[in-house]
Amino acid sequence: MDQSALSKLLSASGLADLRYLPTTGSTNADALQWLESGAPDFSLVIADEQTAGRGRFDRRWITTPGAALAFTLILRPVPAEMPYIHLFSPLAGIGVSAALEKSLQLYPQIKWPNDVLIDRQKICGILTETSWNGDKLVGVVIGIGVNITPLSLPPAEMLSYPAACLEDKAGKTLDRWAILAEILHQLKGWRKKIAQDDFFEYWQNHLAFAGEEVEIRGAMGAEVEGRLVGIDPSGELVIETDNGEVSIQVGDVHLRLRQP
Ligand code: BTN
Repeated sequence: MDQSALSKLLSASGLADLRYLPTTGSTNADALQWLESGAPDFSLVIADEQTAGRGRFDRRWITTPGAALAFTLILRPVPAEMPYIHLFSPLAGIGVSAALEKSLQLYPQIKWPNDVLIDRQKICGILTETSWNGDKLVGVVIGIGVNITPLSLPPAEMLSYPAACLEDKAGKTLDRWAILAEILHQLKGWRKKIAQDDFFEYWQNHLAFAGEEVEIRGAMGAEVEGRLVGIDPSGELVIETDNGEVSIQVGDVHLRLRQP
């Protein structure tokens, strides 16, 4: 793959601009730099290999050449989107899930707020980062890593959650560029519906662990245990605990099924 071939393949995706890198440290780091130096809304950085890929909670994310999709989309929210910035991560989860449903007839679930699972195994991780100039938002970068072939799976000792790849789930070899095109198409469409009824309905209908006992650990170590009820109209996760319902904001929290 090279930049001009990929531009052609993605010509219908509505991208403003595209940078393809055979290898890089992290497409999120590249995208933040590009955002700060003027990248237009809906620009894409994509790499075949990442040597310093970033995951949530300061974890590493490995991207082996030829085995995965690793890309970051640059968004410059318009004023009407500003109240919904916290929904940009779930937007990415919804876009990926909808693309896999449509192009591969798989039934993904979204582990709140945004990991995409199939059969309770992680297929896709999402890391959203923002850039601020004082109190003014410069933009948002949404980094998406999708496991395509078995070679995309990290070594067992690096796994923080059971993982799988799309080719194993689909039972055939896949064209990752066609999947990328569908993800971009879905992201563009769902962005227009952010925070609308359809958006919450899709998210709720694809929510992993609904009705099950879960535990949530916050970035500050606080823990909530209870039954996962669903998401409320603002996207907060509702958990029924022994002391009543608790709502958890989209943010840096770990969600897990509770071990019996
Ligand atoms: C997670 O921890 O689940 C989030 C992983 C996000 C990985 C993607 S791969 C493309 C982009 N570039 C990065 O450095 N990270 C994200």
